[in-house]
Amino acid sequence: MKIIDRPALAELTTLRLGGSAIAEIRLDSLADCERLPEALSLAGGSAHVLGGGSNLLIRDGELPITVIRPLMGSRDAEGRPAEPEVLGAEDGPDGKYTLLRVGAGMRMPFLLSWTVRRGLAGLEGLVGVPGRVGGAVAMNAGSYGCSTAPLMRSLTVFTPERGLHEIGPEGWEASYRRFSLVKPCSWYMSASVVLAMKQDDPAKLRRIMQENFLRKKSGQPVHEHTAGCVFKNPEGESAGRLLDAAGMKGRRRGALRFSEMHANFLAHDTKCGIPGRTEDALALIAEARAAVQERFGVSLEMEVKEWPAWR
Ligand code: EPU
Repeated sequence: MKIIDRPALAELTTLRLGGSAIAEIRLDSLADCERLPEALSLAGGSAHVLGGGSNLLIRDGELPITVIRPLMGSRDAEGRPAEPEVLGAEDGPDGKYTLLRVGAGMRMPFLLSWTVRRGLAGLEGLVGVPGRVGGAVAMNAGSYGCSTAPLMRSLTVFTPERGLHEIGPEGWEASYRRFSLVKPCSWYMSASVVLAMKQDDPAKLRRIMQENFLRKKSGQPVHEHTAGCVFKNPEGESAGRLLDAAGMKGRRRGALRFSEMHANFLAHDTKCGIPGRTEDALALIAEARAAVQERFGVSLEMEVKEWPAWR
């Protein structure tokens, strides 16, 4: 466990926005979870779990929060990227499956290339999605027909009420970009997950992954600082299409603007000479929601998580 005072949060997010927290608690192993309650009570502030920071909009200023970073599963004892643990294989209704235990801190791009190389299917649609495994679980991250929750067999979580424990699928609820635990808790942190991945041809999976990446690169601002899609898609619609039709593409405030490539991405131009402010992002979001509401009568729901989250 490592504790850092007053960490600058912008550096921990893909959007590169946000003020500072009271403290950052880095967890490198499951054993660190046992010391977490004490570390949190010493630091004070409300607990916020940060994965890869790829889906976050954090407010400016000195924030009354303490950030927990589950990094277990990202590095091995020698400091090299850790690998998933192969637990075994089993027969499913449509073929053979391999069971993997993966730490919450493992980077999604690493997991994707590791599984594709071994012919394990299920994550090819998530190519180009940054972030870590714990964040992909918490968001039920998805793209091009893939999503995280259907691959999950069990989850080891920490909650302040129950400590570290393992739950099966009956212990969680997942739907489009939503994931929550069935048993009420004040907050939870994923520590590791067991995935069941179907065995398939590595060359076929590599081809699908490459096709998805080309599609993504041609339609989304993958080389800019963004937090992914800002809004969830309303049932049967694309938020990007509605925002585009409402004239939001290229709309700018300070260093922030809605991408010209895809209107559901806010991009932060960190080199424009104007300091990026979350206030500008929030003003653009309010403007966009009002424009879509007025033009289409649709109320857009945020996909990106706002911090501090008031519980
Ligand atoms: N469109 C526009 N203008 C835009 C953006 C999109 O007209 O500015 C149109 C496109 O031309 C297309 C339709 O809207 O006809 C759908 O667009 P796209 O294929 O880009 O998909 P999306 O619904 O906007 C969703 C996910 C993405 C995911 C892609 C591909 C959400 C909110 N978005 O986008 O996920 O990568 O499908 O599967 O679910 C994310 O969640 O962060 C994310 C990027």
